[in-house]
Amino acid sequence: NQYQIAVVVGSIRADSFNRKLALALAHLAPPEFTFEHVRIDTLPLYNQDLDGKQPAEVQTFKSRIAAAQGLLFVTPEYNRSIPGVLKNALDQGSRPYGQSAWGGKPAGVIGVSVGAIGTALAQQHLRNVLAYLDVPTLGQPEAFIQAKDDLFDDKGHIGNEGSRKFLQSWVDRYVAWVKTHAAF
Ligand code: FNR
Repeated sequence: NQYQIAVVVGSIRADSFNRKLALALAHLAPPEFTFEHVRIDTLPLYNQDLDGKQPAEVQTFKSRIAAAQGLLFVTPEYNRSIPGVLKNALDQGSRPYGQSAWGGKPAGVIGVSVGAIGTALAQQHLRNVLAYLDVPTLGQPEAFIQAKDDLFDDKGHIGNEGSRKFLQSWVDRYVAWVKTHAAF
């Protein structure tokens, strides 16, 4: 089987560490996994009045999520939670009621921050939302990554040996999780 993973990065800034982390993680995955970064910065703010006539950007976003066998959330922490742009994407993908794109898609949650807490609280908030959205989320290992100078090398791979080994074990568990829970 080929597994297509929809990658949702919780930061929309050009030089996002989280986007870099998402790209580096893809290098650690086996060839049967492909990763598609799904944009969230083109989504309008969620408005329930539009449930019956969702904007084209929302429909495109939902179809990308629906086409994937697994999800990978790579998010920074903003003020001890997830960024608003990510919550907006989660809300957009969940509606109209009964037509959520998320349900049943196995997911991994990971993130990098400049602070020592390494997105721990953002990830916990995200897990709360994903539980409600019926997204089976890899529980262990947890990965709270702090951005240090050698985190990425000049090719965009994980730059230091310790982080690479740890993230390889994380990706291995994530891959097994997706294979166990993916539906085709
Ligand atoms: C932050 N940052 C941050 N870091 C953290 O560890 N805990 C936090 O609660 C916050 N809060 C926060 C709020 C806002 C509005 C900003 C802009 C930033 C710092 C954050 O880790 C840093 O900006 C990262 O570089 C953001 O991730 P990207 O954009 O590099 O992927």
